[in-house]
Amino acid sequence: MILVLNGPNLNLLGLREPEVYGEGTLEELEAKCEAWGEDLGLTVVSRQSNFEGQLIDWLHRAESDGFRAVILNAGGLTHTSVPLRDAIAGIDIPVVEVHLSNVHAREPFRHRSLISAVCLGTIAGFGPTSYQAALLTLSERVDTPCQ
Ligand code: DQA
Repeated sequence: MILVLNGPNLNLLGLREPEVYGEGTLEELEAKCEAWGEDLGLTVVSRQSNFEGQLIDWLHRAESDGFRAVILNAGGLTHTSVPLRDAIAGIDIPVVEVHLSNVHAREPFRHRSLISAVCLGTIAGFGPTSYQAALLTLSERVDTPCQ
């Protein structure tokens, strides 16, 4: 079981800067993740919060809630949050950092991620396909069968 966590402002997908983030909604993105997961034999559960503490609580609980890995789009917290970085470093299951946009081709403040160094890897710039690539990589990595 894989947890897909979306952070601040991602609830506004479809409305928010569609030229950057596309026209699809969060609901559509979550449905795609579920379907891609199914194709790979993975059960995907998606959650979104605008609150840093909520994301941290979900990360802390992820393993005991039965998740084998987390796919995290931390939104703007990527570039600012030491507590989120520490939460990722403090858990035992892998976290894959994803971004819809190519953060490295955008404003300089988006070039730095405080979480990359404690994540398994980063996939950025492919829209919803960033999440699909993260699911694929996790499906190939996890040794024991997961669903
Ligand atoms: C984002 C990139 C971040 O810089 C931004 O703050 C977001 C979305 C992305 O998915 O491209 O909210 O994480």
